[in-house]
Amino acid sequence: MKDLFSIEQLSINEINEILQIASEFNLNYVSDEFSQKRLVLAFFENSTRTKLSFEIAAKNLGLQVIDFMSELSSIRKGESLVETLRTLESMGVDIAVVRNSEEGTAKMLANQLSMSILNAGDGINEHPSQALLDALTLKEIYGELEDFNITICGDILHSRVARSNIELLSKFDVNISLCAPKELLGNSFNSYNHYDNIDEAVQNSDVVMCLRIQKERMEQTEVPNFSDYYEKYGFKKTHFEMNKDILLMHPGPVNYNVDIEDGLQNHDRCLINNQVKNGVLTRMAILKKILNGIGK
Ligand code: CP
Repeated sequence: MKDLFSIEQLSINEINEILQIASEFNLNYVSDEFSQKRLVLAFFENSTRTKLSFEIAAKNLGLQVIDFMSELSSIRKGESLVETLRTLESMGVDIAVVRNSEEGTAKMLANQLSMSILNAGDGINEHPSQALLDALTLKEIYGELEDFNITICGDILHSRVARSNIELLSKFDVNISLCAPKELLGNSFNSYNHYDNIDEAVQNSDVVMCLRIQKERMEQTEVPNFSDYYEKYGFKKTHFEMNKDILLMHPGPVNYNVDIEDGLQNHDRCLINNQVKNGVLTRMAILKKILNGIGK
């Protein structure tokens, strides 16, 4: 495997292999195994979790990490992204982790460049490493990715996290439902069961994965009334009472008192901190698989 731009690329065996490698790592793992390799973080949209966990993952494996400062680069003089990364490739960079706002960018770059391209989010299209870390989090609970009901709740229309998670979990025997207002549901997932409010979702699920309202990707007129949205779709403390086994996930960053009630982040059935930790381990596993694939 040279690149990771979409979950669609991965077979069930490859997903299981990445999750197995990730489960054998820990946060204190230190190695200089890949000290001859260079990785650039090329982020053109904001990020905390993805960018920094890729950085920590790469450093744990001994890679040299370069933070590409797009606002100080020649991109500001009109140089294209592909030309920019080709320039870095000529300097000996082996892997680029790329986040930007245009769907399909990672695949386009992967097709044009010899360096490995890892998609850290391309617009509303895909966020494959997020889906893999979510799968690891679910596997830690259920042992296998089978025989549980998960509902993905919130701004599905604008969510690359939802798209990659649905793509991944539908390869396994997991029952996926969606919960969103019609205007944030879109038409891509009409074949999935739909709940029209979070109470129904909680009563019929083992896991609810809430999503952030992506205000930055909406026209002003599309932004819902947050208080109405929270009332109908926000996960609240009462939901942990309504279903005594329900587990809560969220990829972050969270809009508290919109997606999730403030204060729930440290509840013992909230998996957000597990997801963040697994972000580092999963990205270490992805890097190891890519680096073994392209040779040390
Ligand atoms: N989940 C996620 O992609 O978070 P960041 O935007 O902080 O990277």
